[in-house]
Amino acid sequence: MPKTRQQNQNSLYLSPVITIVIISILSPLSLAAQPSKFRRAPRFVGKLPHLTEPPQRQQRQQQQQYRYETRYFEQRLDHFSFADLPTFSQRYLINTDHWVGPNRLGPIFLYCGNEGDIEWFAVNSGFVWDIAPRFGAMLVFPEHRYYGESMPYGSTEVAYQNATTLSYLTAEQALADFAVFITNLKQNLSAEASPVVLFGGSYGGMLAAWMRLKYPHIAIGALASSAPILQFEDIVPPETFYNIVSSDFKRESASCFNTIKESWGELVSVGQKENGLLELTKTFHLCR
Ligand SMILES: *[C@@H]1O[C@H](CO)[C@@H](O)[C@H](O)[C@H]1NC(C)=O
Ligand SMILES: *[C@@H]1O[C@H](CO)[C@@H](O)[C@H](O)[C@H]1NC(C)=O
Repeated sequence: MPKTRQQNQNSLYLSPVITIVIISILSPLSLAAQPSKFRRAPRFVGKLPHLTEPPQRQQRQQQQQYRYETRYFEQRLDHFSFADLPTFSQRYLINTDHWVGPNRLGPIFLYCGNEGDIEWFAVNSGFVWDIAPRFGAMLVFPEHRYYGESMPYGSTEVAYQNATTLSYLTAEQALADFAVFITNLKQNLSAEASPVVLFGGSYGGMLAAWMRLKYPHIAIGALASSAPILQFEDIVPPETFYNIVSSDFKRESASCFNTIKESWGELVSVGQKENGLLELTKTFHLCR
C-alpha cells in the first residue's frame, strides 16, 4: 500500500527517536535480559563516538549528561500480608533539572528498575534524558528490590539465602513497590496532579506495561521497549526466540547460518563417543 505524505513525514520524524531507543535502551537491556545475575555491570558499547575520547573527558561528559541525586525510600517487604516483617530501603535516583513543577503539571517520567543496579540502567537510558527537557519532566529511577542497593534483610547473602527469604522477589511485589513509591513521592512534592509516564526495557518494559494493567490510576502511559510481554509458554511457542535469532544470522550470511547449524550435530556426535565430553571440555576450555 503506498504511503501517504503524512505517513512518510511521520516515519521520517520518528526515525531518530527509534534510533535513540535502540542505541540507548535496547542494547544494554537485551544484555540484562539474560538470566545470569551480574556481579559487575557489562561494558556498554552503544556510544561508540565516546570510546575514542580520553577517559577523563568521557567521564565528565557522562556526569554532565546524567546528573541525579540518590535517595532511599522505606518499603514493606510484603505488600500483600499483615505479617510483621522487616522493611527495606529502596534506592531511587532523581533529576528535577528540567521539571516545570507541580503547578504547571510537570510530568514525572519513571523508569521501572529491572534486574540490576539502577545506576547502570540510568546512565544507559539516554532516551528519557533526551526527552525530559522537551516535556519539562522530572526523571526518577526506582531500583528493583533484591538488586543493587535495594536489598532486603540487609545483605545479598541473607536475601538470596533460601526460598523463604527469596519469596518476596516477585514481579507483583516490584509493581506494588513502584505504586507505593510514586504515590508517596507525589504527595511529598504536592504533585498529585502531575501525570506519570512509565518507561522500561526488557523485563522492565514488562513491568511498565503491567503497571498500566494492574495500577491504571497511577500512570497515564507506558513505553515498554523490547519487552517480551507475550513470551510465555502458553502464548508463544518456546522455540520462537531461537527462530528469530536463526533468521538474524541467516539474513547476514547463509554460510554462517549453515556452519553454526551443522556444528550442533557435530557436537552431539562427539559428545556421544567414549570420552567425547572430555574432548569437548578440552577443546572449548570449559570450566568443568
Ligand atoms: C532461611 O534463611 C533465614 C535467614 O537466615 C532463616 O531465618 C530461615 O530459618 C531460613 N529458612 C529455611 C527454610 O531454611
Ligand atoms: C517523603 O517524605 C517522608 C518524610 O520525610 C520520607 O520518609 C519519604 O522517604 C519521602 N518519600 C520519598 C519517595 O522520598
